[in-house]
This record gives sequence, structure tokens and C-alpha cells, in this order.
Amino acid sequence: MPADAGLTPSILITGARGQVGFELCRSLAPLGRVVAVDRSRCDLARPEQVRQLVREVRPDVIVNAAAYTAVDRAEDDATLAFAVNRDGPALLAEEAARAGILLVHYSTDYVFDGAKDSPYVEEDRPAPLSVYGHSKLAGEQAVLGSAASALVLRTSWVAGSHGGNFARTMLALARQRDTLRVVADQIGAPTMAALLADVTAQIVARHWLHGDRAAFAGGLYHVTAAGETSWHGYACEVLRLAAQRGVALQAMPEAVEPIPTSAYPRPARRPANSRLDTAKLRRTFGIHLPDWRSGVAQLLDQILDGEPACAKA
Ligand SMILES: NC(=O)c1ccc[n+]([C@@H]2O[C@H](COP(=O)([O-])OP(=O)(O)OC[C@H]3O[C@@H](n4cnc5c(N)ncnc54)[C@H](OP(=O)(O)O)[C@@H]3O)[C@@H](O)[C@H]2O)c1
Repeated sequence: MPADAGLTPSILITGARGQVGFELCRSLAPLGRVVAVDRSRCDLARPEQVRQLVREVRPDVIVNAAAYTAVDRAEDDATLAFAVNRDGPALLAEEAARAGILLVHYSTDYVFDGAKDSPYVEEDRPAPLSVYGHSKLAGEQAVLGSAASALVLRTSWVAGSHGGNFARTMLALARQRDTLRVVADQIGAPTMAALLADVTAQIVARHWLHGDRAAFAGGLYHVTAAGETSWHGYACEVLRLAAQRGVALQAMPEAVEPIPTSAYPRPARRPANSRLDTAKLRRTFGIHLPDWRSGVAQLLDQILDGEPACAKA
């Protein structure tokens, strides 16, 4: 460990080209020396490569944003999904325990079956409906069951300015079609990748810079934006914000038809209730999580700012 490690940790970010990984590169940069790697340098399905990289970089903190996230494809690709989402994090945890590294890992609302009629707390029993959900549950269990100092942050409905996501898809469809049909019986909280990255940075800073290491409150935490909506409500909000910003749409929010999940069959089943209770995060770290709508507004601004002016009108 470097002599000034107490002041400037070295932080390894995996999955750096993903939605969350991209935002972590921004949010963690002020905390120390960031080494950000994508799949080409750190493929979680290649254990030897991962082990070698961790031993070369010798980080103080690993933030694992890499994951197999193709929820439907995973139904026919369980071997790879489990290699990336279970075995990869298990190996990172093993290396973290061996070298005294803090490990931050992400998991998902899809570990639940959605049958509960209120938001899920960390102690609720997981019961995944999909291969992806099972693989992510196995990953969080491997991390939490290891000897590493580790945090698992469960989140939901992630969207970021970098990468494909629901908000971008709705925007693109509403520019091409005059009606959209969107599922209205699954509820959750759209959570921006930037928020998740900022929360991660706050916790890492607290752990590392503020000398909380001895009393570090590792474990499992739910982290989502505040409030709740359905995919239908989310789509309407995206279109409302886009119209407000002068985007020429074929489909306005009123043209978004609410449909049941049964009218939009997918290979992987999704939970009807994706709501996660975030009280433990607030109690433990005093972190305030803003309403999902403010995050979506910021995301829309970022997406539209990145477009040529002629695309907006
Ligand atoms: N997206 C959501 O709605 C959501 C919801 C709840 C929880 N989460 C969790 O949040 C975390 C971040 O997700 P995200 O939204 O940022 O996902 P993402 O945008 O799909 O990013 C995942 C990254 O992992 C990389 N990756 C895939 N296979 C890999 C492998 N074998 N080795 C190394 N890297 C690999 C991908 O690289 P390529 O681009 O090369 O494929 C991608 O850059 C994940 O743990 C995810 O399970 C996401």
C-alpha cells in the first residue's frame, strides 16, 4: 500500500464502458487514482485475466460495474450469465479479501419475484423469476458471503446518458410512431446511473477519507431514486419532458397506451413490484435520494444536449 494511501486510494473500476461504469469514472475521479477498465482488459468470464489485473493494479478499492445485463438473452445463455454475474464477483471478492481491498458491487430488483405489495427491504427473501435474477443473486451472495470488506448496492431501472436504455428507446420510438404501447402493471423507481455513481462515491469517500474504515458499515443496501412509477408513467414523463424542451414528437404522452405485462410477452419474466425501500441507506449513511423525476429531467437534458440542433426540432 502506498505511503499516502490514507489520502489517495487507488480505485479500480470494472465495466467502465457501461452506464454506471461511465458515471463512476466521473464521480470517483476526485477521490484518488482511478484505473478504469472495460471488458477488453478485464473480462469477468476470464478468471486468470481478472486475477492478474487486480494483482498488477493493487487497488485499495474495486468498484465492479461489469455485469451480464442482457436480461432476455440470459434465458438461453445461463452459463455465461453465471460466469459473469456470479463467478466474476466471487473472484473479485476473493482477491479483495486476500489483499484487504474494499469491494463495491451492484445488484438488482430482479432478485425478487415482485409478489410483495410494499417496497422490498434488504431482509426480504429473494425469489428471482429469471436466469439474470438468479445469476445476480448468486453474485451478491458470493460477495456478501466472502471475507472481503464489501458493499452490495441493489438498484432498479437504471438509465444513463452513456448507453442504451428505456428513456432513449421511448424518445426514439415517439419520434417515429404516433402511438406507443407500454406496460403499466410493473412498478419501480427509474434510477439514474449518475445518482448511483454519486452515492457510491460518497460511501467510498466516507470509508476511505473520513477514517470510518474500522467501523465500516458494509453489507447490502437498496439504492434507488425516491418515488415510484410504472414503465408507462416513466414513458409519459420522458415524452412530457421532451415536448417541453421543443422536441418534435409523433407521439405525445396522451398517445401512450397503458398495457398489461401479458400483452408484451418477453423471454424473461419481470417482477410486478420492483420497489426497493432505501431507509437503511439513509439511516446508515445519511444519504438523501432525490425523486426519480429530477433524474429523468437531467438525463433528458444530457441526451438532447448531445444531439445536433436539427434533430430536436
Ligand atoms: N440496467 C439496469 O436497469 C439495472 C437495474 C438494476 C441493477 N443493475 C446492475 O447495475 C450494474 C451496472 O449496470 P449498467 O446498467 O451499467 O449495465 P450496462 O450498461 O449493461 O454495463 C455493463 C457493462 O458490463 C460489461 N460486461 C459485460 N460482460 C462482461 C464481461 N464478461 N466482463 C467484463 N465486462 C462485461 C459490458 O461491456 P460490453 O459493453 O462490452 O458488453 C458493459 O460495459 C450491474 O451490476 C447491473 O446488474 C442494472
